[in-house]
Amino acid sequence: MQAVTLPSYGGPEVLTLAEVPAPVAGPDEVLLDVVATAVNRADLLQRMGFYDPPPGASPYPGLECSGVVRALGEGVTGWSVGDEVCALLAGGGYAEQVAVPVGQLMPVPAGVSLRDAAALPEVACTVWSNVFQVGGLRAGERLLVHGGTSGIGTHAIQVAHALGAQVTVTVGTAAKAARARELGADHAVLYKEEDFVAAGPFDVILDNMGAAYLGRNVDVLAVGGRLVVIGLQGGLKAELDLGALLAKRASVHATSLRARPLEEKAAICAATVEHVWPLVSDGRVRPVVDRVLPLAEVAEAHRVVASSEHVGKVLLSVRPPT
Ligand SMILES: NC(=O)c1ccc[n+]([C@@H]2O[C@H](COP(=O)([O-])OP(=O)(O)OC[C@H]3O[C@@H](n4cnc5c(N)ncnc54)[C@H](OP(=O)(O)O)[C@@H]3O)[C@@H](O)[C@H]2O)c1
Repeated sequence: MQAVTLPSYGGPEVLTLAEVPAPVAGPDEVLLDVVATAVNRADLLQRMGFYDPPPGASPYPGLECSGVVRALGEGVTGWSVGDEVCALLAGGGYAEQVAVPVGQLMPVPAGVSLRDAAALPEVACTVWSNVFQVGGLRAGERLLVHGGTSGIGTHAIQVAHALGAQVTVTVGTAAKAARARELGADHAVLYKEEDFVAAGPFDVILDNMGAAYLGRNVDVLAVGGRLVVIGLQGGLKAELDLGALLAKRASVHATSLRARPLEEKAAICAATVEHVWPLVSDGRVRPVVDRVLPLAEVAEAHRVVASSEHVGKVLLSVRPPT
């Protein structure tokens, strides 16, 4: 089969489409014919040599896909050859086939095309597990989403809005602020011109910036607030004012999805299907697809995501949907 390989680490030009051995579905795994995959910011880090796949995962990039079940490994029940699905992956989505632990398969929500379903697994599982399971966001609470037009941000806005939270986002441009409002954000802060602290306080913050925003995130947390750090685009290390945190009875969390044990990922996928898929099926939450490029143009897709000119997800088309 064809897959995007990394003969060396570096810029987008190192991404190389090559003939590689096809994967085999092991026990409790399902083999998929991939229809589409999506570029995540983490793939850029993997390409540069800063984010190796966890042990046992495919060496090829790609943290999610949509596709058709081609074969079932030993012990798999509940799925059939020919089923149309999407899946959360630890790697290997940039390929014609991928073997997936069965707990990470999800049905394609009603009303979503098989291709566009590739835009959902990573954002939906990340947002559900972090904003709702870790952050405990409830209806009526105030959520701040940094990077509101990122893949993650566009999904977080829609789900939080649909479930009755007030949503504020940070964005780099006025055009992105307008897109965020269209998706359901109540307020958008142009972070290059305004300080987001003035827009608070917030009960939950979903943060992609890490060190660069830690101090101001703590400043803008409400009493009992929960800061959930999922990205380190602004660095790894910063000083934390425990006095400020203590006075607010607030908490800071940091999590990553990719390296979690299979049982935890399966539980997150199941909770996402239970809580988020109905919102997608009834049209309140939609996949936000910025553009679709063929797998052969993966280097261009990485350039787009690196430049942050996109809104939502950049997809890679692997084969035409049947
Ligand atoms: N921990 C986990 O399990 C997990 C899972 C998935 C994703 N993530 C993380 O979540 C983040 C979003 O992922 P993605 O794939 O959706 O990324 P993405 O689409 O590439 O978006 C990155 C965003 O960062 C924004 N940004 C850059 N500088 C900023 C700043 N100073 N303040 C606020 N926003 C800023 C950009 O928006 P502007 O153009 O507006 O600057 C862009 O929208 C990444 O950091 C990723 O690593 C973590």
